[in-house]
Amino acid sequence: MHRRNFLQLTALSSVVIGTGCMTDNREAKQNISAVIKPVVISTWDHGLPANAEAWKILGNNGSALDAVEAGVRITEADPKVDSVGYGGLPDRDGRVTLDAAIMDHNSRCGAVACLEHIMHPISVARLVMDKTPHWLLVGEGALQFALDNGFKKENLLTDQAKAAWEKWLEKKEYKPRINAENHDTIGMLALDNSGKLAGACTTSGLAYKMHGRVGDSPIVGGGLFVDGDVGAATATGLGESIVRIAAAHLIVELMRQRNSPEQACKLAVERLIQKNPNYKDIQVGFLAINLQGQTGAYALQKGFTYALHTPQGNQLMDAPYLVQ
Ligand code: GLY
Repeated sequence: MHRRNFLQLTALSSVVIGTGCMTDNREAKQNISAVIKPVVISTWDHGLPANAEAWKILGNNGSALDAVEAGVRITEADPKVDSVGYGGLPDRDGRVTLDAAIMDHNSRCGAVACLEHIMHPISVARLVMDKTPHWLLVGEGALQFALDNGFKKENLLTDQAKAAWEKWLEKKEYKPRINAENHDTIGMLALDNSGKLAGACTTSGLAYKMHGRVGDSPIVGGGLFVDGDVGAATATGLGESIVRIAAAHLIVELMRQRNSPEQACKLAVERLIQKNPNYKDIQVGFLAINLQGQTGAYALQKGFTYALHTPQGNQLMDAPYLVQ
């Protein structure tokens, strides 16, 4: 189903449109007065099975925080997804290094960066949030913390990822660029039945990156931000361009200024274009949700898909984009 038709259907079947003057898209969205919930939204087509897992919790009155953690674990464990967790493409030294962040409605946050050998970095990030006085652990320290807390050390480099890396070694060309085939991060945002928001973001980062490189995904305010009074946002694409505008935080602040989630994502793409002269060579996509359960997305380039699960079902959507 075309994304706009789906949104219309969703709006007609589950929300009450206010009676204000609806002269444009933004104003129309601001007049929606009923809350759609639960809702979960996540990046790319691998978001569909991740959403379905999250829905098992959301649909049973579970918490958004538990739902986003459970949801993205599906992608982390999927060897076919070569940009997240197990099966992720390694760095230039052949090491799979993972970044992840999680955040709840009280703006509590936990993250890990450059973590090796652990299948579920998102659950380590959750433990950092729940059990330590810190928000971010990196590298060896993150690994030690995971092992101390019962996580198993595993080989995350699959035969396919190793073969791809060995082929890359033949030329060693390294040019971070448009990220349409390598579908990148999973970022997931949810609103639960009690009206609480949460978000999670997890990735193996750029293929063949320098060892130690960290992208936007574990950076609170960059690849993920949640403000329980306003909304939540997440990002996918080239982290180096996303952190230049603190994208997820920017989008939440734009929603605070009464922009709809889609409009806030679009304004963030415009800002990203202003700040990244190489914008034509990269892909970036943003997702957002507000406290009313309204969702929106915007991408720099064509090709960004995302998965939206409402009480009406789980659908893959094409994000609007700015660069023709
Ligand atoms: N957005 C993922 C990364 O740049 O690592």
